[in-house]
Amino acid sequence: MTAHRESPWGDTVDVEFDEGIAWVTLNRPDKRNAMNPALNDEMVRTLDALEADPRCRVLVLTGAGESFSAGMDLREYFREVDESGDPALQIRVRRASAEWQWKRLANWSKPTVAMVNGWCFGGAFTPLVACDLAISDEDAQFGLSEINWGIPPGGVVSRALAATVSQRDALYFIMTGEPFDGRRAAEMRLVNEAVPTARLRERTRELAAKLAATNPEVLRAAKVGYKVAQEMPWEQAEDYLYAKFEQAQFVDAEQARRRGMQQFLDEKTFRPGLSAYARE
Ligand code: COA
Repeated sequence: MTAHRESPWGDTVDVEFDEGIAWVTLNRPDKRNAMNPALNDEMVRTLDALEADPRCRVLVLTGAGESFSAGMDLREYFREVDESGDPALQIRVRRASAEWQWKRLANWSKPTVAMVNGWCFGGAFTPLVACDLAISDEDAQFGLSEINWGIPPGGVVSRALAATVSQRDALYFIMTGEPFDGRRAAEMRLVNEAVPTARLRERTRELAAKLAATNPEVLRAAKVGYKVAQEMPWEQAEDYLYAKFEQAQFVDAEQARRRGMQQFLDEKTFRPGLSAYARE
């Protein structure tokens, strides 16, 4: 299948479909993909549309040019909104930003992978952490640069850090504003792995293709169950996770569990510890 490009709503986000993978590219390379209100609005619409689009079985989030994202747009998201003197505008732009960067993305119904191809600063940590998995270029530059220009980390950036890296690493980079590279990001588990530039797209595609080939209902129950249960006491988590477990079987049209057990126990055609059951 040939890759199919489209940009249905504006020019700040580009979507390309290829073999079940939707490559979603933040597309303001001249501004290092800084997230302005227009991009935030467009990403809300993009996520809503892709959730219902069968061409998307997995979403990869990346940036155009040499940047993943330079964070919130200092001019359009901060200064212009401050100077507008319009509190309703501030509420609206903050809401759109949060809406895609974590509320929709963190519990999105399909798997998500961040591909960090370059600069990743400040507010960009929120969608990075909200994606289920992340692969970085070894030489990508990350930074909690807020302290360098006079604010503590904005939005839920500090909360996103607390969900991924240790307190020592989080506070070191929050308090010093020093940049760090993709290798360091992988060491502190902010991303799953860091690879050389030449392998970045290929490795991301390999991972996304594996997810695209996995039973979507089971995958959804597994990832959402994990994320939601993190915030629960054990008793509630057990009840919720059993409900999720049973829901997955109820909505799974291909009956993965029955089929997997049959192939292992009766047909002896695979070992679930080593590979996936055969889908039709
Ligand atoms: N907000 C608004 N504009 C931004 C931006 C941001 N976060 N990051 C970059 N830009 C703009 C620059 O103003 C410049 O615009 P111009 O061409 O109209 O002057 C353009 O993008 C290119 O930036 P420049 O600094 O020349 O690129 P660079 O490749 O030399 O450096 C960065 C790239 C990312 C290191 C640098 O732009 C930077 O430090 N950006 C701010 C990062 C940050 O602190 N983000 C946290 C926000 S929460």
